[in-house]
Amino acid sequence: MNQISPPPRLEIIPPNAPFTEGQRSWLNGFLVGMLSLDGSTPLAPAQNGAVLGPAGDGDDGEAPWHDQTMPIADRMKLAEGRPLRRRMMAAMAQQDCGQCGYNCHDYSDAIANKIEPRLNLCVPGGKETARMLKALHEELEKAPAVSPSPALAPVAAVPAITVEPGRSRDNPVAATFVSRRLLNRAGSEKETWHIDFDLSGCGLDYVVGDSFGIFARNDLGHVDQIIALLGASHTTEVRGKTLREVLTSDVSLAPAPDSLFELLSFITGGAQREKARALAQGEDPDGDAATLDVMAALQKFSGVRPHPEAFVEALEPLQPRLYSISSSHNATPGKLSLTVDCVRYVVGKRKRLGLASTFLAERIQPGDEVKVYVQKAHGFALPQDPRTPIIMIGPGTGVAPFRAFLLDRKATGAPGKNWLFFGHQRSDCDFFYSDELNALKTAGLLTRLSLAWSRDGDKKFYVQDRMREVGRELWTWLAEGANIYVCGDAKRMAKDVERALVDIVAQFGARTTDEAVLFVGELKKKGKFQQDVY
Ligand SMILES: Cc1cc2nc3c(=O)[nH]c(=O)nc-3n(C[C@H](O)[C@H](O)[C@H](O)COP(=O)(O)OP(=O)(O)OC[C@H]3O[C@@H](n4cnc5c(N)ncnc54)[C@H](O)[C@@H]3O)c2cc1C
Ligand SMILES: NC(=O)c1ccc[n+]([C@@H]2O[C@H](COP(=O)([O-])OP(=O)(O)OC[C@H]3O[C@@H](n4cnc5c(N)ncnc54)[C@H](OP(=O)(O)O)[C@@H]3O)[C@@H](O)[C@H]2O)c1
Repeated sequence: MNQISPPPRLEIIPPNAPFTEGQRSWLNGFLVGMLSLDGSTPLAPAQNGAVLGPAGDGDDGEAPWHDQTMPIADRMKLAEGRPLRRRMMAAMAQQDCGQCGYNCHDYSDAIANKIEPRLNLCVPGGKETARMLKALHEELEKAPAVSPSPALAPVAAVPAITVEPGRSRDNPVAATFVSRRLLNRAGSEKETWHIDFDLSGCGLDYVVGDSFGIFARNDLGHVDQIIALLGASHTTEVRGKTLREVLTSDVSLAPAPDSLFELLSFITGGAQREKARALAQGEDPDGDAATLDVMAALQKFSGVRPHPEAFVEALEPLQPRLYSISSSHNATPGKLSLTVDCVRYVVGKRKRLGLASTFLAERIQPGDEVKVYVQKAHGFALPQDPRTPIIMIGPGTGVAPFRAFLLDRKATGAPGKNWLFFGHQRSDCDFFYSDELNALKTAGLLTRLSLAWSRDGDKKFYVQDRMREVGRELWTWLAEGANIYVCGDAKRMAKDVERALVDIVAQFGARTTDEAVLFVGELKKKGKFQQDVY
């Protein structure tokens, strides 16, 4: 879980006041706003009503929609009748992944409190979230003003937040790319890279568990194809730069945004216009909406050539991507490593490239500088007591932060026991860091290494299957006070692993399933079960 809360919070309501965390947080925000302690202009009562719902806030602080596997329609249903800020939260992807710079709760509160004007920061939520937020934001904007007093001045008066360089997506610094190394062997269906950066120039540091934000650049060949489709010259000046520079570094060329279809609808006619309009409203007239990146949209409306300036205006800004740091600053100060799975796929006849993963895999060269930042982890860290045993479950690239944990524990001489569950497709070609992990095992630092290969046998075999096999020992470690960690795929793996954990607690901890669910919930609350999923 990686997130930051950009504005420094003023705490007026003490932590021991008789309120739930949600109520306390809301009251703090409300009083800070009322008293203008943060320098911002308070909302008028009617505006507050719109943000907070009819009866004060009236919210119980619960977030039953906070489940990354739940479809947006179900999440919005669960949030019906709640204050606007809570419905905004339900519109988020619920991963608390930190890519927006907040967690889901804080991002929605920041929008509802008009501290954050950007509605398009939820990367995993994609267009669905952006559309829903836009609709909810219109509700916020429509809230009737009670009196035209100066107190109603737009909250744009909130001062700009200054953040330490390199600690936020809003203030990146330059790091030097050092090298890449393919982790898969011949025969693998995967392409996963070990990536090294040098931080000595920018002076950044980090702790294990943190993530690294990367501002990647689009592929030049792809950019030039788009310029050709526009019938423009790549030297055309836009926003004080060449069109080629803007398309390479400033805007996203992946999912075609609604605003691009809107633009296309304005400059075409007849059936084409209707189609573009429908796409702009989230409809799917030809059943291909999900495959339309910016280039595919231009090809679909091939006779239509938007003006380069209007075209760029209609695109979304390029968003950074986060990667779990797989090295330890204590072990190798000034160095930072990542473990990156390369996203490539084909739609029709065209190869599609994941922006940041292919940038790291092929476009950046040793010595090049990249805009980066460290995204601090909240609730994903080694235990404070170095003697605490840890159980780490990280299939695929999910192993990244656990490599960092192990290197850190080695560097600091932490005496706690360490158990790693790693899984991937095939043992002979997808066993990342096998030499290192085996050496750590031989040295006694890695107490146990449990492996699960999903495609070695006739039947799929996953990390959670291995966990069940060794459930008794796993329970013993938990009973000894071990912390347990999961990293990797949010959509299916994380939930399946949690289910296995519940079953193990029930079976070996002699509990009913309900009690085991509560037990695992308690582990989470106490910070003994931590997840970093994406
Ligand atoms: C906290 C955090 C930590 C992370 N750590 C890591 C890590 O350690 N290692 C790692 O590799 N990743 C990690 N990720 C994921 C990473 O941030 C990127 O999301 C990932 O690398 C893809 O980014 P990209 O820019 O290459 O691809 P994008 O340009 O973002 O493209 C990805 C999109 O392409 C589409 N897509 C992908 N495959 C297909 C397909 N087969 N068919 C159709 N559409 C498809 C999907 O819409 C997908 O969302 C992490 C994410 C978070 C939030
Ligand atoms: N959206 C998706 O459908 C999807 C799926 C997978 C990964 N991803 C993303 O792809 C990126 C990189 O992936 P990665 O390199 O980390 O590896 P990965 O593709 O996630 O796979 C790692 C291992 O996990 C296995 N696995 C698949 N489903 C699982 C489940 N429900 N429970 C436990 N293990 C499961 C895989 O097996 P098999 O592949 O043999 O089933 C493989 O052996 C991540 O960003 C991840 O979120 C997305």
